[in-house]
Amino acid sequence: MNFLQLIEQKRDGGELSPEAIAKAVNAFANGSVPDYQMAAFLMAIQFQGMTLAETRALTLAMRDSGEVLQFPEDDRPIVDKHSTGGVGDKVSLPLAPLLACLGYRVPMISGRGLGITGGTLDKLESIPGFTTQLSAEQFVGQVQEIGVALGGQTDEIAPADKALYALRDVTGTVPSVPLITASILSKKLAENLDALVMDVKFGAAAFMHTRDDARALAKSIVNLATECGVQTTALLTDMDTPLGCAAGNWLEVKESIACLEGNGPKDLKELVIACAAQLPGCDANRAATELASGRPRILFNKLLAAQGADLGAFETKLKQETPAPVVRELPARGNGFVARCDARIIGEVVRDLGGGRQTKDSEIHPDVGLDQMLKPGEAIDRPLCRIHARTEADAEMAAERLVAAFEIADERPGLDPLICEILG
Ligand code: URA
Repeated sequence: MNFLQLIEQKRDGGELSPEAIAKAVNAFANGSVPDYQMAAFLMAIQFQGMTLAETRALTLAMRDSGEVLQFPEDDRPIVDKHSTGGVGDKVSLPLAPLLACLGYRVPMISGRGLGITGGTLDKLESIPGFTTQLSAEQFVGQVQEIGVALGGQTDEIAPADKALYALRDVTGTVPSVPLITASILSKKLAENLDALVMDVKFGAAAFMHTRDDARALAKSIVNLATECGVQTTALLTDMDTPLGCAAGNWLEVKESIACLEGNGPKDLKELVIACAAQLPGCDANRAATELASGRPRILFNKLLAAQGADLGAFETKLKQETPAPVVRELPARGNGFVARCDARIIGEVVRDLGGGRQTKDSEIHPDVGLDQMLKPGEAIDRPLCRIHARTEADAEMAAERLVAAFEIADERPGLDPLICEILG
């Protein structure tokens, strides 16, 4: 295959055949196309877009770069949720065990952080001993046994997405409707789902800045997933403000546990319940009652044990105020109310504290980030947030940049809804 010709064809606005796309994906997945050529190809797609037929071909080729999970016949529907990426977005962590307790099978294949948005895999790997690298057999076995498994793309499951995702993260090629659609659905179709709920974010810290762009992405995902036999709905949700009060891998695990124990922030609980309520056979009351029962919290530990976590070390870490070497409060420079808590600035600061990547090989520092964030509408009766850092210099850098993230007003501001639209 002449990969250079393919890059040039896409660069010049041509339409690629499904066969050419499948060959390109396979060649990259088996290592015969170098990163620099694939990066150029991705950038050509970023600028030129893809037709529906091209997006479908890319999605199916990425799915078929690995195995499609095969589950035994069973009464429990196979379902999942995926987010297009946000700051403080930890919904998958409490939602996955909740769905299993509600009687679904949940083979959740997630991703790492992308750009300034956090990733479920990075969050889970802040738990001592937890592995996200499961074989297809382990995935199926665990889902059959306890109802849920949380893992990443591997050499066996959606390997093309594993490689493309890491490359897109560091080449400015994330915010593309066809690339996001193919990335998400290659993983979700590899799970062999009956139903999917999508959380499509828009706003300052989302890949889609406007609601119109988010709607276009949601339609692309819902239409293709539905065509592939997966009953799919999408929530359009606000990502101008971080979700919950913590951003950073371990701090988000801790907040997810609070949610499972009935103490988490209101917006997180609202979104967890709303996602569950979109699935066939569920509604918000059932989801809220099950969440409050404590059973999903117990199942979360079962899931951790099944995936190698050291439960003793996990519970000890949970009891620590912070495992980060430096913790510092950010005082408010005025009185009144928080009018804006800018998720973009917060995401950038958390990434630069070491919570995200600048290059493919960047090391993640799981314990850094922010917590106890004051959110829009809240009175300023305490510091704006706490900074968890590796060094005093990092904490200082964060404190300086975070001042611009919080806008203060004399009057309590009106608030936009978190969930703005439901499609599908
Ligand atoms: N989540 C994914 O899995 N892929 C993307 O491209 C964006 C969000």
